[in-house]
Amino acid sequence: MMTTAGQGKVAVSLAGITKRFPGVLANDDVDLDLFEGEIHTILGENGAGKSTLMNVLTGIYRPDDGTISIWGEPVQLRSPKEAIDRGIGMVHQEFKLVQTHTVTENIVLGLGRGLSLVGEQEAAERVAELSERYGLKVDPSAYVWQLSIGEQQRVEILKILYRGARILLLDEPTAVLTPQECDELFVTLRAMREQGHSIVFISHKLDEVMAISDRITVLRGGKNVGTIPAASTNPQELSNLMVGREISFETYAKKETVGEEVLVLDSVSASNDRGLPALVDVSFAVAAGEILGVAGVAGNGQEELAQVITGLRSAIGGAITLSGRDVTQASARDFIEAGVSYVPADRHGVATVGDMSLTHNSVLRRYRESKFSRGPFLHLEAAVEYAERLIEEYGILTPGHETPVRSLSGGNLQKVILAREMTTRHRLLVVMSATRGLDVGATEFVRQTLDEHRHAGAAIVLISEDLEELLSLSDRIAVIFHGRIMGIVDAATARIESLGLMMAGEALSEIAQ
Ligand SMILES: Nc1ncnc2c1ncn2[C@@H]1O[C@H](COP(=O)(O)OP(=O)(O)O)[C@@H](O)[C@H]1O
Ligand SMILES: [Mg+2]
Repeated sequence: MMTTAGQGKVAVSLAGITKRFPGVLANDDVDLDLFEGEIHTILGENGAGKSTLMNVLTGIYRPDDGTISIWGEPVQLRSPKEAIDRGIGMVHQEFKLVQTHTVTENIVLGLGRGLSLVGEQEAAERVAELSERYGLKVDPSAYVWQLSIGEQQRVEILKILYRGARILLLDEPTAVLTPQECDELFVTLRAMREQGHSIVFISHKLDEVMAISDRITVLRGGKNVGTIPAASTNPQELSNLMVGREISFETYAKKETVGEEVLVLDSVSASNDRGLPALVDVSFAVAAGEILGVAGVAGNGQEELAQVITGLRSAIGGAITLSGRDVTQASARDFIEAGVSYVPADRHGVATVGDMSLTHNSVLRRYRESKFSRGPFLHLEAAVEYAERLIEEYGILTPGHETPVRSLSGGNLQKVILAREMTTRHRLLVVMSATRGLDVGATEFVRQTLDEHRHAGAAIVLISEDLEELLSLSDRIAVIFHGRIMGIVDAATARIESLGLMMAGEALSEIAQ
């Protein structure tokens, strides 16, 4: 059996793994060793090839080139079953549980035997034992539909442990977890390492990567650009490796003087979809060349606020003015024509049409413009030319403009939407959770673009749960709680503690500054 100086045995050795998709080299000659009893992180931007590499290692994809060795023995993995027979199990980004089955049924399902009464009892005991040993708390008799996302993930982990996996691949497991659930997952990962399991952990969040990893492999454009012990690196080096250039975490320079007021809300109220009060007496103004950040815990009226100031929801009280014009009763189309752009949080639902091509999506809200229409029809050539320019300028990774946007990674989809919304000249730009779920490179890109638009004179309302993002980009920050503005502070002098108190419902006037 293979060993490496100073390390444990090599559980998995990938040598020269290459995997192509039409128009994309997803994995490019990747070498990677996974030791027994290590937590090995694969770090990389969206589209770097992380999931593909793991799908090769679980027999879902056949590599075009390269070899896989398990415990020193070269193997051909033709299916996930062959992988699990060799002790390799994967928790995918999308769970594959049957909602109407119990936890135990899901774990035992697919093992090729039905559950007799005795078998079920035995299985439940084994599940309880595994869940105890690895700190994976979940009720074996609960139905999957009753479980939180965090619990469902535990079931997926139990499922592969039950099948005897010693090599566990977890594809972005923390993306769907709350901070507290993340901590619990890390306890589990450490318990597994303790017992000699080998773990591949995929993530693009640098803080958690630093906290949990023994070694880190960075993939960029399908290539392994470095495997480094976590103890001898830092977030700055890792992010530079990820994106291939220096990343700045700087504060953006604000404009010395802002322009005229673009958007003014005067005591605006609105209801949510269930008819309950969502916004109460909201008043603020945003000027040209200014970013107004809106901070708050999710679900405090942010969505409704964004809709009201883009004409997608009617106010039931108060007045909204846009460049001096009363738009309180205006339609969404009026807002678009007045130069209002909106980047919503839900990138898959509202913002794009998954089955439609990148070209069609990039002119989605502009097909009425003369430049993109020929009579009642879309002027396809103009649209294609435009889409190709967006791909080029925004660095969108895609096989081409005809690709349905459904198959793009999250970061690239976000770029398509931003590119679409941001190449239009606008007076007011409303952006909600613009960088949520994005990797470092895409985040930086989005922030820079917002900053450029500020300097070009747009009024921007930036709604986010990320206080650091708000502090680095905004001129002023408004805090929303239960649909009310608790206060508006200057970002340059704002204190995080004060913002936190307002987010929990204290008015600025009540806080000792
Ligand atoms: N089944 C597929 N068909 C075509 N292209 C794919 C497929 N899976 C992934 N890709 C492409 O391969 C590249 C790597 O994707 P992926 O491995 O999912 O990246 P990551 O997991 O690092 O975000 C991307 O450009 C992606 O669009
Ligand atoms: Mg992936």
